[in-house]
Amino acid sequence: LDVDPRNLAAAGAALAGAAARVDLIHANFAELAGVLAGLGISHVDAILADLGVSSTQLDVGERGFSFQHDGPLDMRMDPRLKTTAADLVNSLREKDLGDVLFYNAQEFAGRKVAREICTVRRDSRITTTGHLARIVAKAVGVSDPASRKAKIHPATRTFLALRMEVNQEIPNLKALLAHAPTLLSAGGRLGVISFHSVEDKEVKLDFRARKSEGTYELVTKKPITASAEERDTNPRSRSAKLRVAMRLADDRGQH
Ligand SMILES: C[S@@+](CC[C@H](N)C(=O)[O-])C[C@H]1O[C@@H](n2cnc3c(N)ncnc32)[C@H](O)[C@@H]1O
Repeated sequence: LDVDPRNLAAAGAALAGAAARVDLIHANFAELAGVLAGLGISHVDAILADLGVSSTQLDVGERGFSFQHDGPLDMRMDPRLKTTAADLVNSLREKDLGDVLFYNAQEFAGRKVAREICTVRRDSRITTTGHLARIVAKAVGVSDPASRKAKIHPATRTFLALRMEVNQEIPNLKALLAHAPTLLSAGGRLGVISFHSVEDKEVKLDFRARKSEGTYELVTKKPITASAEERDTNPRSRSAKLRVAMRLADDRGQH
């Protein structure tokens, strides 16, 4: 499943020679239960969710995900979505914008950034990634982001928070985590690869709660991270955390 038809096509090309049958479906993983029902599948042995965005999305300026490439402030992974990042930035109330920045990405300067955005948009609509990045840098008092070599760009968390809001990443992850126990066979495994602390925390707390209610056994006590070698060859793997849980049979033995 992928919400982005372009990535689905790339996956299709990569898997063209695979011996096993592969169904590539343009769908949100929040809808996994319905998708499986449509395929006539009641239970599965494994679910692997590789969260977030891909390099093919981040590195294309016109998709609007990155402050490193100027482009329209879009950020939709799924072209069926109606609301873009520009819509949010230009219409949310200042308080709601601050909440999005703080709760989605722990941007502690969220209130300041929201205030600056609201000041600027009174004069003209904010429509590009470059413009938004400059507004954020000004709000947090950084005149030359490129000079701060050791630190992350000041707009990093703002862009992450907006992307998460546009694509409803936390609600979709919660839906997947809620459905997974009903879809996994006994002994089946759920693996989730997350890329930042807010989503990793959702996975950790869900697995822990289901362990205490007797639904899951934890396969990974601590998340698996990329080896030093992988981090060198693929720097974006640095933030990846893989957690795995195993579905235990329930008392009714229905799986
Ligand atoms: C980190 S990339 C991994 C892609 C693929 N596993 C690979 O290795 O090339 C995450 C992918 O998940 C997709 N995605 C993000 N949220 C999704 C969701 N809720 N439902 C389905 N796909 C989603 C994105 O469009 C993106 O292609």
